[in-house]
Amino acid sequence: MKIALFGASGGTGTLLTNRCFASGHQVSALLRSPDIFPLREKVDVIYGDACDPHAVLETVRGADVVLSALGARSLGKEDVLERGVPNIVAAMQQTGVHRIIALGSAGALPDSLKKQPFYRRWIVQKILYNTLLRWPVASQIAQYATLSATDLDWTIVMPPMLRNTTARGRYRIDGEALPRNGSSISREDVADFMMQQLTDSQWIRKGVYISL
Ligand SMILES: NC(=O)c1ccc[n+]([C@@H]2O[C@H](COP(=O)([O-])OP(=O)(O)OC[C@H]3O[C@@H](n4cnc5c(N)ncnc54)[C@H](OP(=O)(O)O)[C@@H]3O)[C@@H](O)[C@H]2O)c1
Repeated sequence: MKIALFGASGGTGTLLTNRCFASGHQVSALLRSPDIFPLREKVDVIYGDACDPHAVLETVRGADVVLSALGARSLGKEDVLERGVPNIVAAMQQTGVHRIIALGSAGALPDSLKKQPFYRRWIVQKILYNTLLRWPVASQIAQYATLSATDLDWTIVMPPMLRNTTARGRYRIDGEALPRNGSSISREDVADFMMQQLTDSQWIRKGVYISL
């Protein structure tokens, strides 16, 4: 497949890039700093920013599928999902690309914590989502709202905290809410699950929670 990849230089994006190569896919990657991206020789580089509609259009043009692991580089207000995801949607609609698999977050929907014990729900909501993770959560809410309002074949993969640990290969998947006491997952497992979605229609037009 020809894959348009957003966030290729990030923690999960780098794993996705390598998995695309391993599966024989061709990758066009939008990069803000291609010079320091170690895999730049292997991808079709589009130099630019997700907030630039023209750069996004060039990245998506000719793709079969869009993969996104875009996200803010800090816990502050960065707006990359608020500004970049509408550009991706517009580019897909303009070029007739239908399928997008995006990395989201367990904090994107109000019901995400409904399977957690009361004390854990309180801590995560009050201490994390409402304070420390306020801006990333707001961005993920925006990404979910943007993609789910389209008629694209979207899938939003919604993990809790991402870790740079090796893949377990076994994790819980839930279409309703974050699995009980689910608090983290390896980026490798997330990348593997996202790659599976390239050929699996089960979670089309759905958000799906994954967690250890
Ligand atoms: N960290 C967690 O525990 C956690 C938990 C759940 C969900 N998530 C979500 O998962 C996603 C990926 O997380 P991650 O930690 O793997 O990613 P990451 O390492 O933070 O990388 C983010 C990627 O987005 C790119 N990016 C940011 N702003 C951009 C812009 N304006 N234009 C183009 N590219 C831009 C970065 O490019 P540069 O290299 O140019 O900066 C980088 O490739 C994010 O949406 C995050 O919110 C994270």
